[in-house]
Amino acid sequence: MSAVDLVIQPVLTPASPGWSAAVEALGDADRAQLELTAGPAVRTRFVTGRSELRRLAAARLGIPAADVRIQAWCPDCRGPHGAPEVSAPDGRRLGATISHASDRVLVAVADSPVLGADLVEVSAAEFPGFDRAVLARRELVATAPSLRDRQPWRARVWAAKEAVLKATGRGLRLSPTTVELAAPGAETAGAAVLTGSAGRTPFTVTPVAAPAGLVAAVACPD
Ligand SMILES: CC(C)(COP(=O)(O)OP(=O)(O)OC[C@H]1O[C@@H](n2cnc3c(N)ncnc32)[C@H](O)[C@@H]1OP(=O)(O)O)[C@@H](O)C(=O)NCCC(=O)NCCS
Repeated sequence: MSAVDLVIQPVLTPASPGWSAAVEALGDADRAQLELTAGPAVRTRFVTGRSELRRLAAARLGIPAADVRIQAWCPDCRGPHGAPEVSAPDGRRLGATISHASDRVLVAVADSPVLGADLVEVSAAEFPGFDRAVLARRELVATAPSLRDRQPWRARVWAAKEAVLKATGRGLRLSPTTVELAAPGAETAGAAVLTGSAGRTPFTVTPVAAPAGLVAAVACPD
């Protein structure tokens, strides 16, 4: 897996010391997306995510933050939202991924153009029907219910699978059951395979240390 630069930060609010600088750092495409973003909670986490992404990408690319290009577009509606695409004026590209949960935002970049991550609240993965909606058949067969009930097992599984799905750029347009984890819920890096009409695509999923009540994972193609 190529080295990943990753941070998990508190979401800034207009009362935070860094808020004005974060808003000023937004690029034109960020501002266009912010215009279409409703609700103060979504707006503050968007601003935090984009400013952190710009900062991490600038350091990785060795260019001023203002020169980092961040764009997002939706393959369904063509609107300015979706997986962030990061590049330098000279054409170099980075893989980039953002996730929000509770009052935190996770941002990661890597040289690999394909990168996904997810930050999830442990409680959010404890809903009735999780196992049938999320686990692949072989995961369902191979894991005892007593293991699945051991928190944060389901949250780790969800973070790993959503990280893979975000790496594809399709997100939850694809079912989490299409991702097969070699060791579901493991606390260490492991193999994942995205299954589908295009065959079997291998990824490595790495759990990431997260604040209490949250679980995170990052996925890169092999
Ligand atoms: C993308 C998706 C997985 C996000 O799930 P979530 O758990 O609610 O949110 P997270 O906080 O983990 O991730 C949100 C971030 O993922 C990124 N993202 C958005 N769409 C993405 C995609 N298709 N692939 C990868 N990353 C995506 C964005 O950076 C977004 O944050 P930002 O808008 O502040 O920059 C989910 O919303 C999805 O799959 N949507 C697909 C359907 C869709 O967007 N339809 C729109 C049709 S108009």
